[in-house]
Amino acid sequence: METYTKIAELKSRLAELKMKEGKTIGFVPTMGALHQGHLSLLSLCKSTCDITLASIFVNPTQFNDKADYQRYPRTPENDGEMLKSAGCDIIFVPGEEEIYPEKDSRIFDFGKLDKVMEGKFRPGHFNGVAQVVSRLFDIVNPDKSFFGQKDFQQVCIIKNMVRQLNLSVEIVVAPTVREPDGLAMSSRNMLLTKNQRIEAAKISQALLYAREHAFKTPVNELAGEVIRRINSSPELEVEYLEIVDAGDLQAVSGWDDAGEIFACVAVHAGKIRLIDNVQLK
Ligand code: PAF
Repeated sequence: METYTKIAELKSRLAELKMKEGKTIGFVPTMGALHQGHLSLLSLCKSTCDITLASIFVNPTQFNDKADYQRYPRTPENDGEMLKSAGCDIIFVPGEEEIYPEKDSRIFDFGKLDKVMEGKFRPGHFNGVAQVVSRLFDIVNPDKSFFGQKDFQQVCIIKNMVRQLNLSVEIVVAPTVREPDGLAMSSRNMLLTKNQRIEAAKISQALLYAREHAFKTPVNELAGEVIRRINSSPELEVEYLEIVDAGDLQAVSGWDDAGEIFACVAVHAGKIRLIDNVQLK
């Protein structure tokens, strides 16, 4: 596995692989603290691209809360070992000065997409995601890039950004990987206390309840019941639960309001914030 920290060196290696050897490049951007969810992206990437490249960069511009940025888990040695044994070909681990030699003052316009859910409760978050992902795409110029369905709204935003910037990268979305008790895998799970971790299984259980009862129960009633089930745990508090049209991410009020409908949730377990979603239609 080759490791690069400098853009110029990575670019010259990629030019060799693409131009001289005609290889296709698959890209898995990450913020490290890797888990099985990341490995599933890597394995999808490996099966469809000649070269698998992963980046590790905890992007400061997407954290609207400084304490959250500082608290974000960093496990560089373990990440390196995991990527190596997963057969990753190249890792890019840039410093902040490499990605942002100057302050990035670009403001993206995502219309209604970033005014709801994560965008509403974490103002500026998706602008920061778009800044870093567009910068990484510019450096790597991948044929395909891989993202997890757990970050459902992020996927919508990145697809929109790719269209706005007229990029040729194909965005591939992989299903959420879950722990045996159903909790969606997330780097933040390692920050949970033992009891919070046990109780966090209630989030996916409540979403499964929503899937089983969709269509049989009015949308608002179902949303209320999902919130009630999660909040029944003393360790958990729902920040939002939205039942939305997958196209524009706006809340629906009836099951016929959209072709594809998702339930999306953000939950506080103490200081740790967890998100999850499930397709209902
Ligand atoms: O999903 C993530 O881990 C991050 O938001 C991403 C896409 C790597 C950008 O920093």
